[in-house]
Amino acid sequence: MRIAVFSTKKYDQVFLDAANKQAGHELHYFETRLTSETCSLVNGFDAVCVFVNDSVDRTVLQAMADGGLKLLALRSAGFNHVDLKAAQDFNITIVRVPAYSPHAVAEHTLALALALNRHIHRAYNRVRERNFSLDGLLGFDIHGKTVGIIGTGLIGTIFTRLMSGFGCELLGFDPHPNKDCQALGMNYVQLEELFARSHIISLLCPLTPQTHHLINNEALSKMRDGVMLINTSRGAIVDTRALIAGLKSGKAGSVGLDVYEEEADIFFEDLSDEVIQDDVFARLLTFPNVLITGHQGFFTEEALRNIAETTLENITAFETGQGHIHEVTQEMIKA
Ligand code: NAI
Repeated sequence: MRIAVFSTKKYDQVFLDAANKQAGHELHYFETRLTSETCSLVNGFDAVCVFVNDSVDRTVLQAMADGGLKLLALRSAGFNHVDLKAAQDFNITIVRVPAYSPHAVAEHTLALALALNRHIHRAYNRVRERNFSLDGLLGFDIHGKTVGIIGTGLIGTIFTRLMSGFGCELLGFDPHPNKDCQALGMNYVQLEELFARSHIISLLCPLTPQTHHLINNEALSKMRDGVMLINTSRGAIVDTRALIAGLKSGKAGSVGLDVYEEEADIFFEDLSDEVIQDDVFARLLTFPNVLITGHQGFFTEEALRNIAETTLENITAFETGQGHIHEVTQEMIKA
């Protein structure tokens, strides 16, 4: 198949080219994001392949349908960046990579929590300036603390296991409680209780209408003073303005973010020579107790290999009607 692959960086091409030796498709790489402005580029292709910050809205899907394209291959697990109703209307099949490395994201979540707690980001800069003062670097023992995990699917379960290794009390919130987490000692509670009791809160649920701005002023007001909040899931689960107010008041003691609700115009690019136009994001960068990474939770060799191989296997299975296809189904959308 002739496939238009959007939002590709050099590292994507390396892993996709390696996987394509077996699959034998014709891959055309576009560095640009797929949006309503760039969607004319899909003309002449058989399928489109996108990543998390492509915006597959109705206009894009209309352009695909007009060009006779029937397949949208996501190089991600999440599908919140696709207008699913429009895809259904245009009879476009959506395939995804359900699990490329839940370990990668769970380990990155832990990395943020450990770095924030012991102020590693600040200590690194200080020592380079030969400032060996410990003022402001005080942390706490994670052992014995209560960790609240919102979303205990693949990534949440691994993060639960990691935190259980630290000897933490584990609270979970998920409409579908997970037996593996319960076996690790997790107690499923209502959100209010999780907010009220947790020293560390980790967001590992998908972005849906129910989870949009789940962390808002009201939610923050129910949390412990000085709570540590880690979002490695999707940016819009957190109302960033409310978070900033929580940081200013001291309600949020530290915040780790791998995702940001308006990240599409910022992340994955080198903007070091440019003025950041997003004032909310710029404010976040000023807090000493906020650690931001640019959506790199997934970024391990294992994950990139799995993403490339599963994406091409999905496309081959769609083309030949043989083999397993990881389709985004109506049941998953309703769930
Ligand atoms: P998963 O589908 O295995 O698990 C998601 C869990 O969230 C499920 O158990 C589901 O029941 C639960 N959930 C659904 N609605 C909920 C709600 N309203 N409140 C609480 N829990 C709810 O997904 P997986 O693989 O664990 O990934 C979780 C999320 O992590 C993805 O949706 C994606 O947004 C994010 N992610 C981030 C990456 C990164 O690079 N930072 C990479 C991959 C995924």
